[in-house]
Amino acid sequence: MTGLRERLGLRFPIVQAPMAGGVTTPELVAAVSRAGGLGSLGAAYLTAGQIAEAGAAVRALTDRPFGVNLFVPESLPEVTGAEVAAAVADLSPLHAELNLPPPTLPERVREDFAAQFRAVLELRPTVFSFAFGRLGMTEMTALHEAGILIIGTATGVQEARALASDRVDAVVVQGGSAGGHRGGWMQDELADTLALTRAVVKAVHVPVSAAGGLMDAAGVRAVLDAGADLAQCGTAFLRASEAGTSAPYRAALAAARPGDTTLTRAFSGKTARGLANRVTAEVGYPLPFPLQNALTRDLRAAAARTGRAEFLSLWAGEGAHLGRAGTAAELLVGLWP
Ligand SMILES: Cc1cc2nc3c(=O)[nH]c(=O)nc-3n(C[C@H](O)[C@H](O)[C@H](O)COP(=O)(O)O)c2cc1C
Repeated sequence: MTGLRERLGLRFPIVQAPMAGGVTTPELVAAVSRAGGLGSLGAAYLTAGQIAEAGAAVRALTDRPFGVNLFVPESLPEVTGAEVAAAVADLSPLHAELNLPPPTLPERVREDFAAQFRAVLELRPTVFSFAFGRLGMTEMTALHEAGILIIGTATGVQEARALASDRVDAVVVQGGSAGGHRGGWMQDELADTLALTRAVVKAVHVPVSAAGGLMDAAGVRAVLDAGADLAQCGTAFLRASEAGTSAPYRAALAAARPGDTTLTRAFSGKTARGLANRVTAEVGYPLPFPLQNALTRDLRAAAARTGRAEFLSLWAGEGAHLGRAGTAAELLVGLWP
């Protein structure tokens, strides 16, 4: 048993990655934690009230430890009217195919981070993790005082060093093959997961959880041998029966072949990895994050309702073709037999 695994009382050295956008339902989080991994709720797109509700729903299903994850907000980007018009014109033909009017930028482009953070403190999950930057000292202190284990996200050694100097309890290192958004904030070298794990384990004295392309026991074993305490798997849980993954998204994952993922800013304005589709191919003028995310909300919702995977964000890592369907507990055992 290694440090983090022991501290969290885990039977499996595996974290089910937080996945914002409806994938990590309370049922999935609880099922993973109950089976002996660490379930994590991706709460970045939830309101404070929804975080409290989802947390209570997890607790009603298990008393095992679980994590909650948020995105650290950057200052809102300034955009010109011409840039908004270009992004709207870009999306309008796709909207027309779904019988939607052209998109408009809503008043509220992201959730209120301070309120989300207060909801997390009140909920007091065992673990709080975050991506896209560093927390302020006030937030770090509040989490430490609440006894919540703090995990930051790094895509490179420099970011890991910055997080360690902020006194996080652990660092998730995210290799370039990972599904979903790139979680760092400095220059991203899209590093190989194993190489990054080795480099960060050597560079910092905090425990490391490794993420990116870990789809089977051999992958998990390799990052643990490289010095990681835990393996964080996202794509491997997308087809879990308890996950909130929509039917067209599941079908696209089941049909995925090697090389089908791409890095794109088309959906949110921030680089993320997912299965290539018409949006990743046709949208060329995205607004910066989180504006584009707000601008594509209606398109994504309508696509999910009508089963049109070609207009959905299909976040997935390079190992998507190796994914399996099953219960969360079955998938967990497959990752650590
Ligand atoms: C659908 C999806 C959504 C994700 N959402 C988040 C998120 O909300 N917060 C976060 O820190 N990481 C998020 N990630 C990234 C994961 O934490 C992790 O780095 C990644 O899943 C690991 O690579 P893998 O998908 O190859 O296992 C997401 C990944 C996916 C696939």
